[in-house]
Amino acid sequence: MWEYTDIVKEHFLNPKNVGEMKDASCVGEVGSIACGDALKLFLKIEDGIIRDASFQTFGCASAIASSSALTELVKGKTVDEAMKITNKDIAAALGGLPKEKMHCSVMGEEALEAAIKSWRGEKVDAVEHSEGEIVCECFGVTDEQILHAVRENDLKTIEDVTYYTKAGGGCAKCHEKIEALIAQARGETPAPTPQPAKKLTNLQRMKLIEEVLEKEIRPRLQMDGGDIELADIDGLVVSVNLRGHCVGCPASQATVQGTVQGILREKVDPEIVVREA
Ligand code: FES
Repeated sequence: MWEYTDIVKEHFLNPKNVGEMKDASCVGEVGSIACGDALKLFLKIEDGIIRDASFQTFGCASAIASSSALTELVKGKTVDEAMKITNKDIAAALGGLPKEKMHCSVMGEEALEAAIKSWRGEKVDAVEHSEGEIVCECFGVTDEQILHAVRENDLKTIEDVTYYTKAGGGCAKCHEKIEALIAQARGETPAPTPQPAKKLTNLQRMKLIEEVLEKEIRPRLQMDGGDIELADIDGLVVSVNLRGHCVGCPASQATVQGTVQGILREKVDPEIVVREA
């Protein structure tokens, strides 16, 4: 489990400025409930100064704490000052966040940017809220969001990008593109695509499935309060049980056949089929 600072715990247990603001000057909305986190930020702006801020969120403890800290950070700032607030500032105001939860601070920065852009009359796409092309279809993350996160936070690996944006945390189809974007942002040449592994014996395959489930898939699902258990392996058919928030989630089918099957196909065998037990 993650280690949260006392400030994170305080903001989570006693969040500040919760709720809809009826007379808000502007609203910034990011994320999607289907992806596990969503944030709606309300700002009251007078004479170019943010007089009040509030939020509604659907997400984990860090999403609530990040949103609460953000509303406190922006109050009293001019719009120009607020526009300079980054996810690092939000994480710093919380005394730090576990790296697996940094996407919550990024969501705060994006909601703030979306709200201010809408106040300035700039075009904001309510769904994609960011310029660029979608790279990660599982989480609706664009190339511009990934490039921004890599540059802003000096990210180096796909795992880093997943922690900060969620991109790549699903079926893994976008991993090659994310690698190319990391290289682009860092001015490097992308690493060569790994060659497919040689044929595994049944025993090797079973061990590798267990290892990938334990080390890669479970931590990703646990990021959103879900979990998974291996029920059986019969040749190339892997049966699993979903646990936690994944049980009854409308996206559970996508989790099994997108995320879980996608990762096992990439890491173990391209012919693996995953189903719920
Ligand atoms: S497309 Fe990015 S994880 Fe599925």
